This record gives sequence, C-alpha cells and structure tokens, in this order.
Amino acid sequence: NNIFSALFVGQNLVTIKEVDSTNTFLKNLLSNSKPLPEGTVIMAESQYAGRGQQQNKWHSEPGKNLTFSILLTPGFLPVVNQFDLTRVVSLGVFDALLPYLGDKLKIKWPNDIYYDEHKLGGILIEAHIQGDHIKNAIIGIGLNINQENFEPGAGNAISVKQILHRDYDLRTLLSEICAHIEGYYLNLKAGKVSLVRNMYLSRLYWLNQTKHFRSNDQIFEGVIRNVKDEGLLVVENNNEQQEFSLKQIEFLNK
Ligand code: BTN
Repeated sequence: NNIFSALFVGQNLVTIKEVDSTNTFLKNLLSNSKPLPEGTVIMAESQYAGRGQQQNKWHSEPGKNLTFSILLTPGFLPVVNQFDLTRVVSLGVFDALLPYLGDKLKIKWPNDIYYDEHKLGGILIEAHIQGDHIKNAIIGIGLNINQENFEPGAGNAISVKQILHRDYDLRTLLSEICAHIEGYYLNLKAGKVSLVRNMYLSRLYWLNQTKHFRSNDQIFEGVIRNVKDEGLLVVENNNEQQEFSLKQIEFLNK
C-alpha cells in the first residue's frame, strides 16, 4: 500500500500537521532518538518558522504546498564535494517537475527552482560533518504547488497552480520527487560524478547569457560560464573569469 517508487527515499514517511520547521524537527529527532533510516521524510502541512537560505524565512500557506525534509547519510561523500548533494537534490526536484512544466523550468544557482523569472521553490541543506566526510544531511525542500496568492513581500514567487491553473496532489508529487532524488543520489554514490555535474550545468538558468550582478556594492554585467566542482559560480566579466560564493554575488533583475 505504498505509493512510493523509490527504494528508500520516503519509505519512512512522517507527516505532521504543524511544526516550526521540518529541518529543525528532523535535526532534533536525530539528536534525541535512535538512528533513523536513510531516506526518512518529514513532511509538514504547515510550518510556523520555516527557514530559507541566508537566514531568510520560508513562508508557505498551510496545506497548499510541499514543505518537507529528507534525511540522507552520505558517508561516502567528502566534505569538499558537498555541492554534489546540492546538485543531486536540485536535479531530482527539477526532473520531477519537468513533465508538468516543460522548458521554462530551470535551476537557478545554487539551488533555486525557477520557472521563467519566478521562484517556484528552494532547498536548504544542513550537513553534519564527521572527520572529512558528511555523516548526515538534512535536505529541506519547499515548493509552491497549490498556493494562489503571494504577499507582495514574497518577491517573485510563483506556484505550479498559478502556471497550470489546476490543483496538484501533494503526495503524488512528493513521491515523484523522492524517486528522482534517489536516482541521482545513487548515481553519485556509484561514482558517476560527471553525469551529475554535467546534468546540473545543462539545467542552469542564464548559463552563457549576459546578466547584471552585484558584488561588493558594484554592479556589473557578466556571463555565467560555469559552476566549479565545489560549487562556486564562475562569471565572466571583461574577458576575465571570477569565482563567487553565494554570499559574494547577487543576481539583479535587469
Ligand atoms: C530557500 O530558497 O531559501 C530555501 C527554502 C527551503 C524551505 C524548506 S521548507 C521545508 C524545510 N524546512 C525549512 O524550515 N526549510 C526547508
């Protein structure tokens, strides 16, 4: 009686009505109880303190969207390759949504899911390191699915429903996302790192296009050329390539 086609991601599924943040909840579970199986998913109908990248809050209308966290235990993954996990998760979400949304779907570096110029969802990965490898990774995913209105403060948010004008079954989408993430994860585990890296680059928003960026309070025109193995963004500006971390660069909307 299990709708999940993945082997382990989502097999142990816990759904909660309301929680502060599924990432925090999973983190606390890990530190308080016996070990949890890899692939455990905590899904919440509503979060009252959802967290995003860079200390942002993550708002999501209760019951309308996907807000969940997956536990992975990638003991095989060196810390220096942590960005491969970001790639695996973004690609999994991307592939699950692709049949519904088509070509306008993109991954905006490092791990936002975009439709045209609009943000459909984001990913927050919190890793626990042991030695020089990753012991646990809490993969938090928030996707706007059936929400119809966003507060003006939500910037450029969009939902699947706003694009396709119908409601989607959250459980079905969840199972599809889990299966796709698992597929990429198993490839990574099997050493197919270049497959994962090449695929990620091929899905990247604004690759080889001229855009405006801000760094160190300077606005400049540049072209995204690459993402380094460890995740730095390579932007070409005046025939010179510069590398940026997420904190060092901002994308401007023009
Ligand atoms: C971002 O784009 O800034 C990342 C957003 C991540 C939101 C998800 S919702 C489920 C999980 N729990 C959280 O508190 N955050 C992540």
